[in-house]
Amino acid sequence: MGRLIVGIESTAHTLSFGVVDSDGTLFPSHSSLFRPEEGGIHPREAADHHSDSASNLLDMLSSSTDFNWDSVEAIAFSQGPGLGPCLRIGASVARSLSTSLGVPLIGVNHCVAHIEIGRNQTGCIDPVLLYVSGGNTQVIARSDGRYRVLGETLDIGIGNMLDKFARLHGIPFPGGPEIERLADEYLQKAEPDMDPVQLPYGVQGMDIAFSGILTSAIQKVSDGAPLEQVCWSLQEHTFATCIEVAERAMAHTGKTELLLGGGVACNGRLREMSSIMCSERDAVSYWPEKAYCIDNGTMIAELGRRMYQQGITTSLGDSGINPLLRTDNTDVTWP
Ligand code: ATP
Ligand code: FE2
Repeated sequence: MGRLIVGIESTAHTLSFGVVDSDGTLFPSHSSLFRPEEGGIHPREAADHHSDSASNLLDMLSSSTDFNWDSVEAIAFSQGPGLGPCLRIGASVARSLSTSLGVPLIGVNHCVAHIEIGRNQTGCIDPVLLYVSGGNTQVIARSDGRYRVLGETLDIGIGNMLDKFARLHGIPFPGGPEIERLADEYLQKAEPDMDPVQLPYGVQGMDIAFSGILTSAIQKVSDGAPLEQVCWSLQEHTFATCIEVAERAMAHTGKTELLLGGGVACNGRLREMSSIMCSERDAVSYWPEKAYCIDNGTMIAELGRRMYQQGITTSLGDSGINPLLRTDNTDVTWP
């Protein structure tokens, strides 16, 4: 390890510390995921989880092989978007580390970090990004010094939609992986039959709506359709909407790479659909390892590194959190 950047992620359910060195070599994150006992994520409870876990995770970071606080040259943290109480915990840990080590602070845009970790890991250069996470569903491309949002959800994020469907059927957070498992189970057991589990299709221009699909999927289960079959249909419908918008973005921009990012990019079926769509148009699809799809500190460190190498740092006075920050609010000056 040469000079190091530490990244702190705390936007929602996960508190995570990760590290990258000045050449862009990534080191695995130390993370703790808040799992509510029941219901959705309460911001105050998630923030309490973050403050309770911080010192443990920092101890794990301190004792990891080759890590040395003397080599740390900057502290990056998620400045937004996210849940205010959660963001505040990450920001205050970042401020105190930066002050005690006497190194600069770098406030980063969480959404942009999902993009840059994917570019680092896969080597793709100028992709259309399909950013599919709990809170966000966006199709993004870089143009004129910003990551522009070409299409996005009109209501809820695809991951939150999956988590809500799961929760209503007794599956704890995060629901996405279990929905994927149930859908696979359905395919192994039966000849797939979409007829009885048709759902609405939510594409409107370049935007997507998920709440109508969610309501209809819940109805199918209460009408007696097997849960696994509805999980399969829910994936097929919602992933197809995302892939359709991503394909249109590639056609409009002329870009030939598709990069998946965000927690839902862990899903094997979504990855498969991306590969099929891209191969049909002589393009290439990419995704980072699962550990770098879900929220993680290493992605915050990686974006911090790119900003730091452009001379961008954040003064204490400017280090306030911004829960409503958007992907396209951040100037992108790095290559
Ligand atoms: P953001 O702040 O970027 O919106 P986030 O806080 O929701 O992100 P992520 O870790 O990026 O967090 O994504 C979490 C989401 O990913 C959850 O909704 C979870 O159900 C979903 N997810 C994780 N694995 C899978 C999977 N295999 N299939 C589908 N969804 C998945
Ligand atoms: Fe995220």
